[in-house]
Formats: sequence, C-alpha cells, structure tokens
Amino acid sequence: MIETLEMADGIFSTVGNTPLIRINGEEISSINLYVKMESFNPTGSVKDRAATYIINKLLRTGEINKDTIIIESTSGNFGIALSSYCKERGLDFYCVIDPLISSVNETIINSLSTKVFKVIEPDANGGYLVNRIKKVQELREQFPNSYWINQYGNPYNAEAYYHTLGGEMCEAADRVDYVFVGVSSGGTITGVSRKIKDVYPNAKIIAVDIVGSVIFGGPAKKRYIPGIGSSKVPPILEFAKIDEVVYVSETEVVNNCNELLKKHLIFAGGSSGANFAAIKQYFSDKKLDKKPNVVTLFADRGDRYFDTIYNAEWCARTKL
Ligand SMILES: Cc1ncc(COP(=O)(O)O)c(C=O)c1O
Repeated sequence: MIETLEMADGIFSTVGNTPLIRINGEEISSINLYVKMESFNPTGSVKDRAATYIINKLLRTGEINKDTIIIESTSGNFGIALSSYCKERGLDFYCVIDPLISSVNETIINSLSTKVFKVIEPDANGGYLVNRIKKVQELREQFPNSYWINQYGNPYNAEAYYHTLGGEMCEAADRVDYVFVGVSSGGTITGVSRKIKDVYPNAKIIAVDIVGSVIFGGPAKKRYIPGIGSSKVPPILEFAKIDEVVYVSETEVVNNCNELLKKHLIFAGGSSGANFAAIKQYFSDKKLDKKPNVVTLFADRGDRYFDTIYNAEWCARTKL
C-alpha cells in the first residue's frame, strides 16, 4: 500500500517552525544552549519570516494591491527573500543594490527581481547608503503605485518576528533566561524581545553588534561582513526591549564560524558566528547559581560567505 505523505503547498508554506537544536561543548558547559536554525527557511535565511509577513499584511490591509511595485534597498538575505516571495505573489519587485553585493546574492536577486538598480556612485563618506536611499525616493516618485518596504523603519518588520520567531523561542525550553540576537535592521530583536518579555519578563535580552557598527553608539569603522551591524541607527529599535549589548570583532566572527563548522559541524553565516562568540564571551566569567537556558538563532548558512569568511585568502587580505 502507498502511504500518503504530508505535503506542503508550495515552498513558502514552509516558512518558520525551524528546527531547534541543542549545542553542547566544554566551552559552553555552564549553560544550556538552544539554537533556532533559520537557514531551514525556504530561501535560506531568517528573512523569509519578514518578507512573507510584511507582504501578506500589506495585501490584507489593502496598503498595497496586485499592481503595486514593491521597492527595497537591500543587497543581502532580505533581497533574496523579498524577490522570491514577490514573485510567488505575482508582485513586481524593484531592488536597489550597490557594488558591495556578493556575486552569489547578485545572481539570485537578478534572476528573481523584476528590475535591479545598481547604485555605483559612492556617497561623500565612501559608502552607498545615502545614494541608495536617493534612488529609492526617485523610484517612488516615478511610480506612484509603489511601496517602499523600508525594513529599518517599518513596524511590520518587527511584528513579523513577534508573531513567529519570538513565540517559537518562548517554547524552546521550559523557561527562557537569556536570548542573544545579532542586530542589523533591528527587526528581529525588536519583535523577539517584546514577545520574550511578554512571556518571561525576567529574561535578559542581549543584542549582539559588530565592532565598527554605530547601532548602539559605537565608533564607525569599515566593516566587511554583511548581515550584522549597520552604519545608521534603525528607528524600529526604539521599540526593542534590550538589556545589554555585546560587541564582537569581525576576526572573532571568522574564528567562531570556523569553530562551529569544525567542532559542531554547523556551516553557518556571519551573524551566527557572532552570536556564538558573544555567548561564550558573556558567560566566560559570569557567576551563575544554576545553569541558565540560553536561546539564540543562526540566521543563515555558510554558503553565501564562501568567498569571504570561509576563504582564507580573503581573510588574510582583509586582515581578519
Ligand atoms: C544573516 C543575518 N543575520 C542577522 C540579520 C539581522 O537581522 P535584522 O535585520 O532583523 O536585525 C540579518 C539581516 O539582514 C542577516 O542577513
């Protein structure tokens, strides 16, 4: 007899409810460490949660319709998630990128977006942020039926994580004591922190930032690893409930990604290595009465960092 397998209806019906794993090791023997494996989302990162939630909500509330052009400035996982999900929903997606995009991401975004606009003129400070936003504004004026996602300021970005990842993290253990989240647009930590504090008011939320990022007031410095840190302060962070911030250097990110791979057989992206490094650093000299339950996320896989974090020549050239 043929058994009927449970079948998902289209790839995007598999967003969320990612695997939860326990990581053991002498370096983390004073804590119980639980990790949400966000690379199991359909386009390979935590950003599928935001892309699907935001687009569905905008359609449901009537803020966009089937003819609206979706616009976003993004060179990373969010661009991949948005371009895929807009295609699934039959929406046009215009993506604004810059020359710092990795060749893998550019290939994927080019093949899935309706149009890609590459800003090549650097800003006065050598970055591209100002000119990318200028391009977004230009497109909005040119196409009146358009919607700028603006992940740094859109409250739906945080809402996505409140309703999905935050709830799943609350169920990671019988009690949640600490949650570590790497920050870039601030959407993940804002949503997750609010949900965790609703359920576990005494849990501590630790933001993980990268040396050179200005999010929490640190001095700006050139950074090379995408997905964590920012050169501007994200407005949605105003609503986050953060207890402490831990800084990790990009060299520590590289070392910890390699440690995760070689010791724990997890091929993870940059912010995952940053979270792992921050957790070890935080608990290295902490006096603990009992073993705390610590929850974090590994936002994506190592594949997209093949030419950077996992390339010894690149690391040597970049002095990481
Ligand atoms: C790999 C990775 N980790 C972490 C984050 C940070 O998430 P958020 O932008 O919600 O702060 C991102 C965001 O792009 C990411 O791509």
